[in-house]
Amino acid sequence: MRLLRALVLAAFALCASAAFAQTIKIGFITSYSGLNGNLGPYMERAVRLYVKLHEKELPPGVKIELLTRDDTGPNPDKARQLAQELVVRDKVDLLAGVIFTPNAMAIAPIATEAKVPFVIMNAGTSVITTRSPYIVRTSFTLWQSSYPLGQWAAKKFKTAYTLVSDFGPGHDSEEAFIKSFTEGGGKIVGSVRVPLQNPDWAAYMQRVKDARPDALKVFIPAGKTATAVMKNFSDLGLDKAGIKLIGPGDITTDEELPNMGDIAIGVLTVHHYSAAAERPANKAFVAAWKKEYGANEVPNFLSAGSWDGTDMIFAAIKAQKGKLDPDRTMEIFKRYKSADSPRGPISIDPETRDIVQNEYLREVRKIGGQPANVELETVATAVKDPWKELQKKK
Ligand code: PHB
Repeated sequence: MRLLRALVLAAFALCASAAFAQTIKIGFITSYSGLNGNLGPYMERAVRLYVKLHEKELPPGVKIELLTRDDTGPNPDKARQLAQELVVRDKVDLLAGVIFTPNAMAIAPIATEAKVPFVIMNAGTSVITTRSPYIVRTSFTLWQSSYPLGQWAAKKFKTAYTLVSDFGPGHDSEEAFIKSFTEGGGKIVGSVRVPLQNPDWAAYMQRVKDARPDALKVFIPAGKTATAVMKNFSDLGLDKAGIKLIGPGDITTDEELPNMGDIAIGVLTVHHYSAAAERPANKAFVAAWKKEYGANEVPNFLSAGSWDGTDMIFAAIKAQKGKLDPDRTMEIFKRYKSADSPRGPISIDPETRDIVQNEYLREVRKIGGQPANVELETVATAVKDPWKELQKKK
């Protein structure tokens, strides 16, 4: 009898803990193969590190499960299929990740239909967030970096040539830069859009060299493509011809700097995140990264977007005590703020669900023998997506 009672009690205890245990499933889509497929782990590692360091702050019994999927680079069909499966079969509570704009655009209708909040941790074309009320972005827009870049460049250069990858973020970066550079009195002497994959770099660089601009402003997706730009810029002798390479920080992405060699030294960019930033929150972030992944490893801006996105997800989980309601989650996301992001103070603009953040002018310099994006000044503070601000005025 005593044994039976003990068994019944044990069974009850088990049921009670099972009812208590709550697993939040995050469907995490990023690129582990294809164009710049080495970038996916920079996002996943940030999420996993955040979860590891902060798990104990979750309500009792709440666990995070990360379901990672490879969208194989810019591949909207694959991204759509993965998101569909994650929502329908795996019943994820949230979708997150995504490097490439076309993939984010393809996932948007699924987030809307299934009412699954979708936290974009990289893809940066301005229009994306308008495609679903369930999208929130913790990364950046190209307008946020390229508009202040043009304002700054107009004070330094008379003429510029623009070169961008021919897809959403490239078009945004081009339009934003041309607008502010010409408003500031600069003259555009040429603009070219190059294929996203395997452009004939030598031919494009030669064309730029022949136009003799003071500056060449480039946007290409971060990763190996950035190194290809740097090498061809140097090989075709644009630096020796006195042309300055400038761009949003994608062209000097932190993790590629050691592969670029000395040609990157002195390149000036505008961006929201640098692994070399001296802010205490960033120093702590970089130290935790090195402790977890190795002394030679550094996070990049995709890591920063993923880290902050996870912090925002934790805020929603805590506020709802582990039971996520999609609409309530979106309301919490819209009010999210952090004074303590590795990139400085950030918040979500409740009207647009886009991140608000500072933009820094940086120069690649050697620190302790290693190239780094050294922040020189804050060129714009608490920047809302300028494209959406301009749309409002129309
Ligand atoms: C994008 O597809 O939105 C994208 C990809 C890579 C970047 C920036 C934006 O570096």
